[in-house]
Amino acid sequence: NLVYLNGDWVADENAKVSVFDRGFLFADGVYEVVPVYQRRPFLLNLHIQRLQRSAEAIGIESIAAEFWYQLVSDLIHRNNLDDCLVYIQLTFGADSQRSHLPTQPLTPTIYASVSPLQVHWNTPTPVKVAVLEDIRWHRCDIKSISLLGNIMLKREAAKKGALEPLLHRNGRITEGASCNYFLVKQGALYTPPADHLILAGITRTWVIQLARQLGIEVFEVVCDVNQLQHADEVFLTSSSREVQPVGQIDDIIVGNGQCGVITAQIAEAFHASKR
Ligand code: PDD
Repeated sequence: NLVYLNGDWVADENAKVSVFDRGFLFADGVYEVVPVYQRRPFLLNLHIQRLQRSAEAIGIESIAAEFWYQLVSDLIHRNNLDDCLVYIQLTFGADSQRSHLPTQPLTPTIYASVSPLQVHWNTPTPVKVAVLEDIRWHRCDIKSISLLGNIMLKREAAKKGALEPLLHRNGRITEGASCNYFLVKQGALYTPPADHLILAGITRTWVIQLARQLGIEVFEVVCDVNQLQHADEVFLTSSSREVQPVGQIDDIIVGNGQCGVITAQIAEAFHASKR
């Protein structure tokens, strides 16, 4: 595939970044993942707004929204893909040496690529999650490329045979390592508020809106491990997963282990909204 790197279009295997890039040395950067359906980026404006919020939070100078819209459009067309995931990464830039604080004004490094999107919406297979302690920092609202905590937790979950960890801080479930979660209790949806302890997922926002349109009540409140374990249904959301039912939490089977009725309804509405 062709990737974009600092103004150039190059084959992915030929794209090279400086060893002095602050993204490489310090993970000093932010990113976005945008799903594309039938060549149309889905909810792109919300992704670009979040990218700009993340960039501003870490002190990268602002880049006009129009630049990002054009970049995403060019990426899709140059790679001639219908359904895909667009990855955008923005780092503080390359310095002339390793220094915790930049030694001079830097130009941000901009990188963007595409990857295949494989979501089988019509057969959402329930997955297993493992509840683990959230060891990440306290600014999970920033979509930082520093994903070490997330990846350590993913590995630990994988060792337990789970696809995703569900993370808790003092018993309160925050989110997954790369997704948000919802639980269903007596027909209503519950998901934690979009504070600094979670990433405010675009899919999460969209699901809340869709649910309310369907007449399903949604409460943005903190939920603890006990509520999670006693939920009627649980599902995960992200740009790459869309709506993914959870069939098992550690050793506990959720409902009958199959995709729940409300989850199926939301997944169906989500799929319909892509067109
Ligand atoms: N991850 N929480 C975390 C920690 C995430 O990394 C993600 C997305 C989400 C869901 O956000 P959204 O609905 O906007 O995709 C929540 C992306 C897909 C990734 O890292 O690949």
